[in-house]
Amino acid sequence: MSTPPLNPALFHLDPDHLWVMHCAEGPVPRAGMRVARAFMQKELQPWEVRWEEDFQGIPVAVRREAADLVGGRAEDISLTPTTSSGLVTLAQGIPWHLGDEVLAPLGEFPSNAWPWLALRPRGVRFREVPLWEGHLAGAAAWASEPPRAESDPEGRLIEALDPRTRVLALSWVRFQDGLRLDLPRLGAACRERGVHLVVDGIQGAGTVPINLESLSAFATGGHKGLLAPQGMGFLWTAEDFRQSLSPSGTWLSVEAATDFSRPSTDFDRGWLADGRALEPGGPNLLQASTLLESLRLISGVGVPAIEAHVALLQTALLDALGGSKWRPEAERLQALLRGGRLGSILAFHHGGQGQDGLERLLKAGYHRGVFASVREGYLRVAFHGFHTEADVERVAAWLHEA
Ligand SMILES: Cc1ncc(COP(=O)(O)O)c(C=O)c1O
Repeated sequence: MSTPPLNPALFHLDPDHLWVMHCAEGPVPRAGMRVARAFMQKELQPWEVRWEEDFQGIPVAVRREAADLVGGRAEDISLTPTTSSGLVTLAQGIPWHLGDEVLAPLGEFPSNAWPWLALRPRGVRFREVPLWEGHLAGAAAWASEPPRAESDPEGRLIEALDPRTRVLALSWVRFQDGLRLDLPRLGAACRERGVHLVVDGIQGAGTVPINLESLSAFATGGHKGLLAPQGMGFLWTAEDFRQSLSPSGTWLSVEAATDFSRPSTDFDRGWLADGRALEPGGPNLLQASTLLESLRLISGVGVPAIEAHVALLQTALLDALGGSKWRPEAERLQALLRGGRLGSILAFHHGGQGQDGLERLLKAGYHRGVFASVREGYLRVAFHGFHTEADVERVAAWLHEA
């Protein structure tokens, strides 16, 4: 019996909606509603919005909390609206040369493809690497084989690095098949070759502890495992990498930007050296205050405790499916889980049921009040720190019956 590290009573959970899809959108804790309401109350009377406490204090607190969560320094954090916007800032800021290449695993979520594909007119190539035998994506995604414990996705990526590769851009935990990539191994290989490892971390943030050691950048939105509303996340950048980028060029990315004793139109200023240089302008204080609340909640119990709890629930579900038609999938996922190859998404391959089969399954789940999701050939069940063993039993009962 594992006690949920995040007390379910802190959320507005409802028995008719067993939500096992924070991989799409995480539930916000009730405390987020309280701080949003309190902040909006101030916005009704803008004289109540405090310069130091709110305009400056909230972003400072979020950067600090985000840094603690990822084991980094607050000065390396930039507040960004989304994962995409963090990656776009990097893609636009890197001093590219004609013929440079961005390498990526096949089948990345588009947030980690379009920012690089947009560089095509500047002569930068985006090259995708299949991660295992029979790995397909795009229009052929439903015909793909799933990853297995014996697959070596990192080996394939490392082998594909070539002298033109400037950036290896990848999802830490993949959105469709749920595979978690070994960042220290990839980072070490990138370091040796002078390649920047840029990570889309949204499917791991809040449920898996991160090791930033050999990364150049880590971007995440807040609305999945971080349990915040859509529209506010953060970007972590290694200092030397950040110094090589063009700054965003907003009014707040320069020295003494808010010193109004000096004319704001005095443009004789240096760019900031810290993460603020990559922020998009005036902070979204409403969103930042809710993200802050969620980060504090997660840090209060610790990501390792959440990870351990999720792994117990995943094991319980896979064990419970032993006597069902899902057994081969349960065994494949057990082996990946034992090998540390999964995050919080258990992605059951459709195994010939096709899209219609999985959609029917989803609908049967909705009738039972179980809300999972389907992406590109996989049924995704994602547990978090607030789920219970009773939740596992409901999911198992649904899958058994289906
Ligand atoms: C791997 C991955 N990256 C990024 C996103 C979302 O990106 P953004 O934060 O830009 O909305 C998702 C899901 O929506 C995702 O699964």
